[in-house]
Amino acid sequence: MASAGIQPFLEALDEPTLVLEGRVIRFANAAARKLFGVGIEGGDVRLAIRHPEALEHILPGEPGDVDITGIGQFGRPWTLSIRRIDEQTLLLRLIDRSAAIAAEKMRVDFVANASHELRTPLATIIGYSETLADEADLEPAIRLTFGSTIRSEAQRMLRIIEDLMSLSRIEAGRFVAPSGHVSIGEVVSQAIENAVRIAGSAQCSIQVDVEEGLPRVLGDQSQLAQLLDNLLSNAIRYGCQSGGCAVRVAASADDGFIRLSVTDNGPGIPREHLRRVTERFYRVDAARSRESGGTGLGLAIAKHIVERHRGTLDIRSTLGEGTEVVVRLPAPR
Ligand SMILES: Nc1ncnc2c1ncn2[C@@H]1O[C@H](COP(=O)(O)OP(=O)(O)OP(=O)(O)O)[C@@H](O)[C@H]1O
Ligand SMILES: [Mg+2]
Repeated sequence: MASAGIQPFLEALDEPTLVLEGRVIRFANAAARKLFGVGIEGGDVRLAIRHPEALEHILPGEPGDVDITGIGQFGRPWTLSIRRIDEQTLLLRLIDRSAAIAAEKMRVDFVANASHELRTPLATIIGYSETLADEADLEPAIRLTFGSTIRSEAQRMLRIIEDLMSLSRIEAGRFVAPSGHVSIGEVVSQAIENAVRIAGSAQCSIQVDVEEGLPRVLGDQSQLAQLLDNLLSNAIRYGCQSGGCAVRVAASADDGFIRLSVTDNGPGIPREHLRRVTERFYRVDAARSRESGGTGLGLAIAKHIVERHRGTLDIRSTLGEGTEVVVRLPAPR
């Protein structure tokens, strides 16, 4: 039986933990009481854990770990750990596997999405180049069209690969705190130059409000430039769809943080998509984003850059009114 000295430690564990003496539950910590009910101490384990598969492993008292789903809640995945303390006593712990399974699903989805995104332009390239190779008497105008489609699809593949490499570089460095002293004003000016180039002939005005005398942030200059490029390119690409639009970039000191925001007055992002737009390859309108050269990685990259800088990224959007992305970076002390 768990001695009084150990009980407070078992009680504090997040994992549902039980101590059995034979079939009787001698101790159940708070997490176990929450899962199986408050009155289970002193009762028979078969009444508390009404899960035939789990009981099949618990009753013989064989030590080991088994993966089991559905204890307490339908479909919830656990590892049931059984340890023998002495002849009479068993220690049972339930380790929640939901997070590990979600991470694994994300990895599998990511590989599937990346393969799909690369396969689509590749299929076009193969189709068009086969026609060019097999049909000697194609009209020159058609040759030119096929050639230029092959080029633009290959460029698209290159963009996806560069973005993926960029994402994995940022992820690989996420535990290394950035050490440059970056002027947000300079990053904003550089990003505006790039944005004016992207905007091209679009009727898009860009307003800049950078507070004077902002302290330099501890950061990675090229990543912060990439962050702002991504936010501005979205504001212009999606915000300027309906002709004239106004984009605003602002930076100010805000309660121990540098607050950086990019606002547009475009169509906005529907509420149900808002939570997901920072996921890799997630696009509200995949066809439209693809048409304008988007890979669906821009906001995922932005989020990872902000996380590496120990900052926060929030997206607020109202349909028909526009979108505001707010980044907060810790200000130097
Ligand atoms: N300012 C915005 N206004 C409306 N929709 C937006 C805005 N910013 C992002 N979105 C939506 O979020 C999606 C994800 O944006 P993200 O920047 O990650 O990818 P992308 O712009 O499609 O491609 P990339 O940035 O990699 O070229 C976009 O496809 C678009 O649907
Ligand atoms: Mg983008």
